[in-house]
Amino acid sequence: MSKLWGGRFTKETNKLVEEFTASISFDQKLAKEDIAGSMAHVQMLGECGIIPMEDASKIKDGLLAIKKMVDANEVEFLVEDEDIHMNIEKLLIEKIGPVGGKLHTGRSRNDQVATDMHLYLRTKTTELIKLIEDVQQALIGQAKEHIHTLIPGYTHLQRAQPVSFAHHLMAYFWMFERDKERLIDSLKRVNWLPLGSGALAGTTFPINRERVAEILGFETIYPNSMDAVSDRDFILEFLSVGSIIMTHISRFSEELVIWSSQEFQFVELDDSFCTGSSIMPQKKNPDVPELLRGKTGRAYGNLIGLLTVLKGLPLAYNKDLQEDKEGMFDTVVTLEGALKLLAPMIETMTVKKDVMRKAINNDFSNATDIADYLVRKGLPFREAHEVIGKIVLYAIQANKFLLDLSFEEYQSFSPLFNEDIYEVLAPEHVVAVRNSFGGTAPEQVEYQIKLAEGKLQR
Ligand code: ARG
Repeated sequence: MSKLWGGRFTKETNKLVEEFTASISFDQKLAKEDIAGSMAHVQMLGECGIIPMEDASKIKDGLLAIKKMVDANEVEFLVEDEDIHMNIEKLLIEKIGPVGGKLHTGRSRNDQVATDMHLYLRTKTTELIKLIEDVQQALIGQAKEHIHTLIPGYTHLQRAQPVSFAHHLMAYFWMFERDKERLIDSLKRVNWLPLGSGALAGTTFPINRERVAEILGFETIYPNSMDAVSDRDFILEFLSVGSIIMTHISRFSEELVIWSSQEFQFVELDDSFCTGSSIMPQKKNPDVPELLRGKTGRAYGNLIGLLTVLKGLPLAYNKDLQEDKEGMFDTVVTLEGALKLLAPMIETMTVKKDVMRKAINNDFSNATDIADYLVRKGLPFREAHEVIGKIVLYAIQANKFLLDLSFEEYQSFSPLFNEDIYEVLAPEHVVAVRNSFGGTAPEQVEYQIKLAEGKLQR
């Protein structure tokens, strides 16, 4: 009987059961974290006199040797040994003999696996924060070039009011800024230490959890062992923040798909970020933003998956919890891939100022401004709105835009119009007068970019 828990059993495990219950095919990703947790645990066991210090040292040396093998890809993980925890423990015993069996004193796989997951997410969350900053930096880079580039601003995907292209890009900067804040905040809870909770009720050994927390860099220790081994809310939080990040990435991707279409042609994605069609030679497809949009689905799926796993579980550990891993790994990989692509795709895209400009010259997105003009001359806004509605209708029927109408034509709608109406209607003016804080006037956008740069310097 070769199982670490084999003592109580009289039969070999059914092979299908072995394969069905094993997690080693995916939790081998936690090898580094598992070894780090064990190193801290055994150090503490030695310091507390729970095992002799020299045994602790032998175990640590053994673990370090295994870590080297893992790093060099030399370990063959076995399904018979079920998961990363028992694979490593068995390797240790093989390597240093029965003394290796002292490692698991005062510990259970239940507090062990929870600790590994906390350590893993801490590393990944920290890395993802940096990747978000790369995207933010790319957005700022393009924004700075395009403070005075005008683009139609839309509501209902209908031209509404012209805006600075920088302003449009910076909207995403702030979405990612809040995502970053959410990740940073989630670290507080990722930094709770489960180890020392045992299987569910604590341990009979005089352990020192503070010491383990100190070695592993945890800020807080779970004060309830049953909570520590059975909740996965720190993963749910990661998956929901991850879903929000993917939502933002997906919306931006959708804009890139629209903007790079033949119909819009506002931007051109770099050739190195597009792919062709196997049949239509003229095609240059925005596959990357499309796939980013598509991959959002799996991030949501991973969140809903784990929420569903958890909702019916009684305390404390249940094997269902093993299902927390693949979705989490998948969301990490998805976010890493998405953020890494997004930054250079933004940096290398060509912004077609002239096309944007042409679009603005051929629309009614300055209509609000003549309404405001009449209001400033004393007309109640509702009445002004009515007058301008009529002017727009007249212009559409005459196949003209607002800047094409003659002064006489304006006067025929209201005697309040003066010659200065043409200045008011110029798109630059329309944008420049939206000079309230957070507005699209170049002055505000410049200030906004300054604020944004301050956020990246922390
Ligand atoms: N592979 C298990 C998991 O991922 C480790 C914990 C197993 N504990 C247990 N009592 N069977 O959840």
